Amino acid sequence: MSERLAVVVGVTGGIAAYKAVSVVRELVLAGHDVHVIATEQALRFVGRPTLEAISRNPVRTDLFEDVAEVRHVRMGQTADVVVIAPATANTIAKLAAGLADDLLGSTVLASRAPLVLAPAMHTEMWQHPATVANVALLRERGVAFVGPESGRLTGEDAGPGRMSEPADIVAAAIAAAGPRDLAGVRVVVSAGGTREPIDPVRYIGNRSSGRQGIELAVAARDRGAEVTLVAAHLELPAPSGVRLVAAGTAEELRAAMLAAAAEADVVVMAAAVADYRTRDVSPTKIKKDAQGDRLDLALVRNPDILAELTAARRPGQVYIGFAAETEPDGEALVALGRAKAARKGVDLLVLNRVGWDEGFGAESPNRVLVLDAAGSVRGEASGSKSHVAGRVLDAVQTVRNRSK
Ligand code: C5P
Repeated sequence: MSERLAVVVGVTGGIAAYKAVSVVRELVLAGHDVHVIATEQALRFVGRPTLEAISRNPVRTDLFEDVAEVRHVRMGQTADVVVIAPATANTIAKLAAGLADDLLGSTVLASRAPLVLAPAMHTEMWQHPATVANVALLRERGVAFVGPESGRLTGEDAGPGRMSEPADIVAAAIAAAGPRDLAGVRVVVSAGGTREPIDPVRYIGNRSSGRQGIELAVAARDRGAEVTLVAAHLELPAPSGVRLVAAGTAEELRAAMLAAAAEADVVVMAAAVADYRTRDVSPTKIKKDAQGDRLDLALVRNPDILAELTAARRPGQVYIGFAAETEPDGEALVALGRAKAARKGVDLLVLNRVGWDEGFGAESPNRVLVLDAAGSVRGEASGSKSHVAGRVLDAVQTVRNRSK
């Protein structure tokens, strides 16, 4: 996500309406402007004050409130995306028929924004021919569906019909709203930090949380790319909707990246790869009593994965490297970046300054310069790691368009 979206969340009358609160909350926490339209039935399952407090906006239900504003038209026209969670069988039927007998139905008809439905109902209702036909018709019109999942339903029963998890619904809503300029593009992102074992208990590691790489994977996914995330010890959960490949050490990351890059259009090396690994990994835990006051570890250089990948590049592929430097002087920092871009053979190098309290961590913002292959500054971005991810992908698109 790189911009603040106007999101209309429709909540309709099913038990899963309680989970709509989490959908609204996650959208708000991600910085979006959320307006809830609840049906009368929805408000029998979840309270208006809850939805108002969480969305930070009034909750609308009634077509006949403040008629002068023609609210359904305004909300429909200004929405970047409309997501209905839960979408009951009744709501799906009404949408398929184009009914506008309440504020939600009217808003959907007045809107040209992408529509995302998260169905929730009992299995029999989901599988009923009427629902199946309604869903097929809506899909044909371009409506996106997220779920339902198969799992435990309200009572003792289980089966397809359970509403998707709020995080998946939010991801689907954002994906539907965003530009799809990477549709069908195969993007591989490495993220996290490798750990090089010393013995079965200890390792040499680094402070990378994996957040910047995760945000790049999410941003690429939301723009329509098919994303493979090669993950080395992420501190955060991996996002949904991407192919995940776990890689713990530099050697494992190398193997995973060589395999994935062969099939990719865009390769982003955001992982912090350990420059050295232990020459001899002890098969048993090293005991301090046996070592005495001093322990010498022999380290050997790890291969430069990125340089190896670019050496085997196919025409049309775009390679992006990262360089985190502690150099305080701006010009010297860029000079380091320029040399690194050339050495690694990348099309773009994302350069940032790191320090004890800069650059690292899941929450901390990032400030980067984007250099091209010749080392010229092509852009800069500062802000959240998701914002930076969006700007890096914009730079990737510039390179791709140039080479077309
Ligand atoms: O040389 P340095 O570690 O500063 O380069 C950083 C860039 O190179 C990052 O994109 C990182 O993922 C990649 N790298 C690599 N293999 C290494 C070390 C770094 O691919 N052994």
